[in-house]
Amino acid sequence: MLKRIFYSTIVASVLTTVFIVGTSYEQPRMLTAEEALAESRRVTKALLGETKAAMKSHLEQGGLIKAVRGCSVAAQEIARSYNESTGYYIRRVSLKYRNPMNRPDRYEEKRLKRFNKLRKKGMLPDDFEDYEIVEEDGGRYLRYMKPLITKKFCLNCHGSKDEIPDDVERFLAERYPGDRATGFKVGDVRGAVSVKIPVRNPDQAGRKEERI
Ligand code: HEC
Repeated sequence: MLKRIFYSTIVASVLTTVFIVGTSYEQPRMLTAEEALAESRRVTKALLGETKAAMKSHLEQGGLIKAVRGCSVAAQEIARSYNESTGYYIRRVSLKYRNPMNRPDRYEEKRLKRFNKLRKKGMLPDDFEDYEIVEEDGGRYLRYMKPLITKKFCLNCHGSKDEIPDDVERFLAERYPGDRATGFKVGDVRGAVSVKIPVRNPDQAGRKEERI
């Protein structure tokens, strides 16, 4: 009997310790809107930098065909690793996507259409960025999007049929049977980096975060 009491005391105290340790762990602090904007800019820059570096190293190793093969693997891996390491939603999206994984959600689709309109009117400079606080599924988020503008180099893999080398075209047809990401021209909006970060309520934060 005594032994039972002894054991149950141990079990109870272990459970209490687990409970206290568990609950006293600080939840990751929710960012204010300004902090989330700074984070969005930081991770977007890092994602673009890493994607570009992967492209460059493949190009140097074996030209465009090596680059397109390499990027078809690296692009998704880089985005996934950023998702995991930051805990935020971050990816590249496009209305005319190559990989169905990069298909925009409803919000992104609306913004991408707006980017196209603004670009046509000459109102979207190359360094444009777009952000706002939205309410989604009962939470508050900063949604940040950075349009990516088509450069001459991009036409090697996103241009018209005669701009894409034959071996690259063959690879694309095989790897991406539903590829929509061709026929772009220099200056077009090719797509965007999209980031979504939960932010705290303004009343909780007590800051002037609504300003952005
Ligand atoms: C060597 C070939 C190649 C070049 C050059 C290239 N891309 Fe891509 N691009 C790809 C491939 C392959 C994918 C699909 C990656 C994936 O599976 O996520 C892709 C996907 C994308 C996406 C994601 C949306 C989608 O269509 O799936 C964007 C945005 C993009 N490229 C922008 C650009 C821009 C901007 C440039 C020029 C600075 C460029 N790319 C140059 C091969 C290339």
